[in-house]
Amino acid sequence: MYNALLRPLLFSLSSDQAHELTIHAAAWSARNRWSHSLLPFVGVKRRFQPLSGLSTTLWGIHFHHPVGLAAGFDKEGELVPLMQRLGFSHLDIGSMTAKPSNGNPLPRSFRLKRDASLINRMGLNNSGTSSVLRHLDAFKPSIPRSVNIAKTHDPTILGEEGIQDYAQSLSEVLTWGKADLITLNVSCPNTAEGKTFENPDSLSALLSGLDTTIKESPTAPPPILLKLSCDLEKTVLTEITQIAHKKAWIQGFVMSNTSTRRDGLIEPTDRVSAMGKGGLSGKAIAGWSTQSIEWLASSTSHPIIGVGGVFNARDVLEKMQAGASLVQMYTGLVYEGPGVVQRIVSDLTSLMQQKGVETLSPQTAGLLL
Ligand SMILES: Cc1cc2nc3c(=O)[nH]c(=O)nc-3n(C[C@H](O)[C@H](O)[C@H](O)COP(=O)(O)O)c2cc1C
Repeated sequence: MYNALLRPLLFSLSSDQAHELTIHAAAWSARNRWSHSLLPFVGVKRRFQPLSGLSTTLWGIHFHHPVGLAAGFDKEGELVPLMQRLGFSHLDIGSMTAKPSNGNPLPRSFRLKRDASLINRMGLNNSGTSSVLRHLDAFKPSIPRSVNIAKTHDPTILGEEGIQDYAQSLSEVLTWGKADLITLNVSCPNTAEGKTFENPDSLSALLSGLDTTIKESPTAPPPILLKLSCDLEKTVLTEITQIAHKKAWIQGFVMSNTSTRRDGLIEPTDRVSAMGKGGLSGKAIAGWSTQSIEWLASSTSHPIIGVGGVFNARDVLEKMQAGASLVQMYTGLVYEGPGVVQRIVSDLTSLMQQKGVETLSPQTAGLLL
């Protein structure tokens, strides 16, 4: 029903309207649990029991299968019961920022249908870290939840003030004490000042600036992951990895965020140029993100969560073969609909059974391709 009815309906609206409608409907459905009985009509089965060979334990946390929800879809932490019901094995909630922000003016998201991709410049719209954490208190999920923090979308908050802004969110999350993981988003291309913290000097200053917050944490800090973009040259990525390795509290990476690149697209150049600035996501960045995962895996032994253009089982396997232990998706959910996670898990299960592979891991993923 999603492909035949709902998607054509949503795609007849502008990307911004469809986004608003989807998030409102999803938040309503998350609050009204009886509505989950309607999910089979959009391809979400009632019974969902992933094969035990798909599970993995990382950082001492159990994941039933590799596929999680990427940050940005549930910025407010209001969709958790629904996303768990769709079958995701883990969620990255946010990005949330120390101060609330409405983000950028509309239009701020665009569909590139021929590329199965999106461009967005949402601009880190969220109600602020303390408010999002309050939303999260409404439901305790049975799957791991990462809390994703970024710098407030305000061009006047720069340098040392920017570091303090991250520190404030981090301190609130550590005091809250219920995050299974924390993701430090240092790679959002849609910041008001047009800069990220991915530059090695800025990153070094940021991580050193957060040392005190970590030391003073009233609860044992959960593993903290660094979310990077796939626009980095291999040498810069290696430098960033070395900087991250100096901090024992950085225990993994999320690769990748959206891209500022526009090459290799099928959509006509003038149409894409008219969309303006923003981060590209979806199929168009799949290859770049997989390449970056491979580079990252060659310079770290920390676990990597692979993100960028995951739409089906093959995409999961390619990310895992490159070195990812888990994957996340956002744009694939928009294009493939709410049944996509269960479909991927079922396809991975069939492939493992056909090929006699008992456990899925970065080491065995290639056998299934
Ligand atoms: C509309 C939109 C909003 C996003 N917002 C965030 C965000 O707030 N924080 C973040 O870390 N990533 C954000 N992302 C990036 C995604 O989490 C993901 O890294 C990226 O889209 C690549 O994955 P995909 O191809 O599966 O979409 C956003 C992506 C989209 C499309």
